[in-house]
Amino acid sequence: MRVAMIGTGYVGLVSGACFADFGHVVTCVDKDASKIDRLHQNIMPIYEPGLDDLVEKNVKAERLFFTTEAKDAIADADAVFIAVGTPSRRGDGHADLSYVYAAAEEIAELMDGFTVVVTKSTVPVGTGDEVEEIIRKKRPDADFAVVSNPEFLREGAAIKDFKIPDRVVVGTDNEQAREVMRELYRPLFLNETPILFTARRTSELIKYAANAFLAVKITFINEMADLCEAVGANVQEVSRGNGVEGRIGKKFMHAGPGYGGSCFPKDTLALTKTANDHDSPVRIVDTVVEVNAARKKAMAKKVIAAMGGDVAGKTIGVLGLAFKQNTDDMRDAPSLDIVPALIEAGASIKAFDPEAMEEAKHLLDGVSYADNAYDAVEGANAMVILTEWDQFRALDLDRIKSELKDDVVVDLRNIYSPEDMAKRGFTYTSIGRPA
Ligand code: UGA
Repeated sequence: MRVAMIGTGYVGLVSGACFADFGHVVTCVDKDASKIDRLHQNIMPIYEPGLDDLVEKNVKAERLFFTTEAKDAIADADAVFIAVGTPSRRGDGHADLSYVYAAAEEIAELMDGFTVVVTKSTVPVGTGDEVEEIIRKKRPDADFAVVSNPEFLREGAAIKDFKIPDRVVVGTDNEQAREVMRELYRPLFLNETPILFTARRTSELIKYAANAFLAVKITFINEMADLCEAVGANVQEVSRGNGVEGRIGKKFMHAGPGYGGSCFPKDTLALTKTANDHDSPVRIVDTVVEVNAARKKAMAKKVIAAMGGDVAGKTIGVLGLAFKQNTDDMRDAPSLDIVPALIEAGASIKAFDPEAMEEAKHLLDGVSYADNAYDAVEGANAMVILTEWDQFRALDLDRIKSELKDDVVVDLRNIYSPEDMAKRGFTYTSIGRPA
């Protein structure tokens, strides 16, 4: 099959490379010429484990192409994927669909023969109808079907998530389009991946419901963590004690500083907007959005309290800035709330993140950057762990202790054991666990 992928962001680039690896011929189109130039040199616009190798392999095999010219890519394609950004619209939190609609206009102009237009971007219910109308208006004669095919991959594990998904969701009533989608995903039949065919609006909502549910789950365990702190219980054990229950599940039960990233914050907000517009509010998600935002802010206070209530003139070594490990993504990262609040309270920040420092430099003022974790805590009054990178999980704690001035450790990802840290002489604070 021939695929055109419009947009080389996280979803577009990973999906394009993975479809090529399945054996399809994929052309990724992006208007950003410098991005396409760099991709031609195998320089990835994002940090994602394994992506550079996958791209290189498929470019060499002549199954994966990059271009700024949409014309041939779209005209030749059996399926054109729209994988452009849908950021929160300034001011009202609705998903900004201008890039999706611009892509639809362009596809309408250039498509040739029966074409399946697939929305992979996360889009509110009804967007597929709008895309169809845009194309129909421009090309009343065109032979096409608009399909919703949301993506469920996680940053940092994107290739595995794409190639071994829990399910593939395809929203369309058009049988010819279903055939094309079946053929595209045929390699997954070997793993018996369930492919769910639904109506288009249902498929669009499945995606929002998935992200919202996971955000609810995280926020639930975060609030349990606060309760654990109040009553002297251990949230990791509460989580484990319930996670083994099939109806509850172990995943997304790790308490932390609040969820961030490019998806949960924007998608939960967009879902509440859609729901309110249709007079069918999802109050639990409204609450989750509010609780999570407050949590990220409260984390700075937690650090300050752990450091004796005053950080003026003190230095804090911060480990991790990205919103989670294995990514350089800083979008809505808890660090963006925590670090400025600590600086505002008078602290000096020396930070280290294995991948996100370049990005952080554009977003955080007044931070100095270290070459590694030990350098970040050298002479600092406290070490604060904000992201659970593997390389922070087995630090040489004797060395950390000798570098730190005050032996205070605040671990917002619960990667160390309170007993062990106490034994080693640290004043250790974590999330929802007795010291
Ligand atoms: C999320 C979903 O997990 C993907 O299924 C979805 O495809 C993607 O959004 C998207 O819509 O594109 P992602 O944002 O890459 O993926 O990252 P997650 O691993 O889901 O983490 C999101 C946030 O939740 C992070 O800040 C993470 O630290 C936090 N989290 C996650 C917790 O605090 N506790 C947990 O137990 C799990």
